[in-house]
This record gives sequence, structure tokens and C-alpha cells, in this order.
Amino acid sequence: MRASKERRDRITDRRDSMTSAFLQCIEKGCEGRYPLDSKEHQCPGCGGLLDVQYDFSRLDRHSVFKLWQQRKMNSAIIDQSGVWRFRELLPFVPAGSEVVSLSEGRTPLVEVNRTGDWAGVRLSIKHQGNNPTGSFKDLGMTACITQAAILGSRVTACASTGNTSASMAAYAARAGMKAVVFVPFGKISTAKLAQALEFGAVVIEMGENFDQAFRMLRELTDELGLYLVNSLNPFRLEGQKTIVFEILEQRDWRVPDYLVLPGGNLGNVSAVGKGLLELRQLGLIDKLPRLVVVQAEGASPFYTMIAAGADEIIPVQPRTEASAIRIGNPVNWKKALRALRSTEGLCEAVTDEQIFEAKAALAKDGVGCEPASAASVAGIHKLVRSGKVADGADVVAVLTGHQLKDPEISIKRRSERELAQQRLHVEADIHKLRAALESVMLQSA
Ligand code: F0G
Repeated sequence: MRASKERRDRITDRRDSMTSAFLQCIEKGCEGRYPLDSKEHQCPGCGGLLDVQYDFSRLDRHSVFKLWQQRKMNSAIIDQSGVWRFRELLPFVPAGSEVVSLSEGRTPLVEVNRTGDWAGVRLSIKHQGNNPTGSFKDLGMTACITQAAILGSRVTACASTGNTSASMAAYAARAGMKAVVFVPFGKISTAKLAQALEFGAVVIEMGENFDQAFRMLRELTDELGLYLVNSLNPFRLEGQKTIVFEILEQRDWRVPDYLVLPGGNLGNVSAVGKGLLELRQLGLIDKLPRLVVVQAEGASPFYTMIAAGADEIIPVQPRTEASAIRIGNPVNWKKALRALRSTEGLCEAVTDEQIFEAKAALAKDGVGCEPASAASVAGIHKLVRSGKVADGADVVAVLTGHQLKDPEISIKRRSERELAQQRLHVEADIHKLRAALESVMLQSA
């Protein structure tokens, strides 16, 4: 059955339906263009960030909606994947190439009415925790490990607060590549560490924080010929931008007033901004939602920059219990700024207390997530209180990671009173158990 397997992950679309793709520097005045197989992740001319850009002039926009719908009925992994189903909008994979996919995406968009009432808006959440490794990183990883395979890379590497490493390890394993991960020593959740180890990655624990690990890794990637998959890699963002295609499709292409995301290294908000602009450029939507990026107060250099009206970011020593976004020097800030400017977006910062309040509000809707994800909901709550977002606005918040990514914190963060009511240690004695249950039943009466 080898032949049938090959068809399932292979781009077979006719070449003439594909579009030419290239890398382009985002810096005004440079805008240097480079071929897709360029090894650099930053402009060789000026050091600026790179985008993957396309000439979409041959895209038949009238047929794509229908095509995307039809693919849902097809069992081939490439059509089931919430990334590759939209492949007309990320056409960098040459015809005949296989994609490295775990059928990522296809995550639910769920209304959360109690949380919406608490925040003061009409709220739906797009839960990226429902991805193969439990975070939004899988959308980006399928794209950039596919590109790594096209380039013939053998060893992939990243610095990470945990989710990127788990995702890279899984996709590298699937592609038969070696994965090397740099994580800050003792600063990532055990669950994420366990994922990377189980998928066979080599985990190098070093330094105080993500920024330090990332800086050191970048010094070695070119020298050692490692394929870097951090969100500096523009192919990552190509996969991640597809989240907006799914959200809008799930809403029958009704554009929400606001789309809210937590921000760390600021790759995701950059990706989402790019995806939205491409949809508008192609005439698939006629207006844009306002993007909102929310940082943890102790790791909010982007918020500080925007609030001060400055045009350079000043790195900080990051401090927050939301370990996934404990980042003080976000590499993608220029792309994130572009995304906010082009969508009249907003940036907010929230305390850890506010993050955990939002997490508790979501739990009342039966929705769990990791702390960093709840920052998006905390941010909306705060923006409604300050009048910057109108009461009753139509809002989609992205929850970036699964509740079980950080299980210790769910217990650690419960008060003694809550634990006394919820976590009962009772002897295995029928009378004592009856008494305990009777007191529980009184609580709920
Ligand atoms: N939420 C979660 C759960 C994350 O893991 C991250 C980033 C973010 C939000 C922020 O996204 O960096 O694109 O602004 N985690 C990275 C990692 C840094 O290594 O897993 P961003």
C-alpha cells in the first residue's frame, strides 16, 4: 500500500495552479528578494526579518472556497490538515513533494457565554490546545519542517519556553530528523519537557531565560548547519497564518470586531496579521478585525513600546508565571507592529493575577488552557473595563495551549479554602466516606 500512502501526503496539484513564491525582506528601502531555498532566516543584505511572499495573480479566488469545503470530505491527510487544506494560500511546496503533517488544525471555535459575560463581550474561543502536541505551534511546525525536508536538512533546532520544542520534536520525529532543543534551565513545565524527550529530542537545558537560550543558539545555527525553527523562520508563520482561514470559515466568513492573542516572541500575531492581509488582498474578506496582542506585565516590552509611542523595543528581564510567554526580547516585534498598524490593533499587558482570574472564568465554561493562553481573555476583560473595547463587541480569543501543558500550576494556584473543599483525603471507611459526601452535597444545595 506504499503508493496509496504516498498520495495521501503529497502535493499533487497541477503546477500551473501553483504560484511563484520567494522570500522578501520586510524593511522599507531594502525589500530584498531571495529564493525560497536560501538558508538565511534574516535578510543577507540588511539583517531584516523575511516574509514568504507569493505572486497570487493566477489564483482563482472564486473556486477556492468550494475547493476548501470539498477537501473536508476527503480522507487524505493533506486535505484533512487545517493547514494544507488551504494550500493555495501557502503555495511554497513544489508539486510532487510530501508534506510532514500530523493532521494539525481543525480546532473548534467555541462560544463561551459565562466567560463572555465576565469579560463584557460576545466571546468565542479558538482552542489551539486541540492540536497534535497541544499547542498552536503545530500549525507552524508542519510548514517549516516540510520546508526543512525540501531543503534536505537533517538536524532541526530551536530555543523554547516549551511548546515549540514539543512540537518540533514531534514533527522532526515524523520527518526522520534529529531535533535539538535549547530550554532555560528548570524554567519550562515538566509536561512540555516530557513531550520533547518522548519524541526523541536532545534537550539542552541552559541559561536563565528563553532570550539567553535563543541568542546562544543563533550564534551556532549557521556555523553548525542546524535548521532553526523558531518563529524567526518565516515558513513557521506561513503555517500559523492559516488559523484565520479556519476561524473565518467557521464563522461563515463574518469578520469579528476583535481577534485577540497572547504575545511572547510575537510570531503568532505577525502570522495572523499576514494571513488577514492576504485574505483581504485576494478579495476573500472586505474588512479586517482589529488585532489585539496581550503580554504578561512582567514580560511586556512590546506593550511598553506601543504605550510610549516609541519605535524601538527595549528588552526586559522577563518575569511571569505564564512561562510560555516569559520572553523579554521578542524577535518578531517589527512584524507584530506591522500587524497592529494595518488592523488598527491594540496591545495590552495583564498581571499574573488577571491571567489566573481569566483562567478561572474559562474553567466555569468547562474550558481549560495553559496560563499564557488565558492572557488573551484577561486582556479583553481589561480593555472593556478601560473603555478601549466596546461592551458587547464580537470577539474571538485564541487559546494557544492545552490545560495539561502546565498541570502543576492548576493545583498550586488553588487557594487553601478551595483545596479544603475540593481535594479531600478520606480514609477508606464507609462511614467516613458517607460523612464526606454528605458535606459535599450540602455545599451544592
Ligand atoms: N502561548 C503559548 C502557549 C506559547 O507557547 C507561546 C510561545 C505564546 C503564546 C506566544 O506566541 O511567541 O508567537 O508570540 N511559545 C514559544 C515556545 C516561545 O517556545 O514555545 P508568540
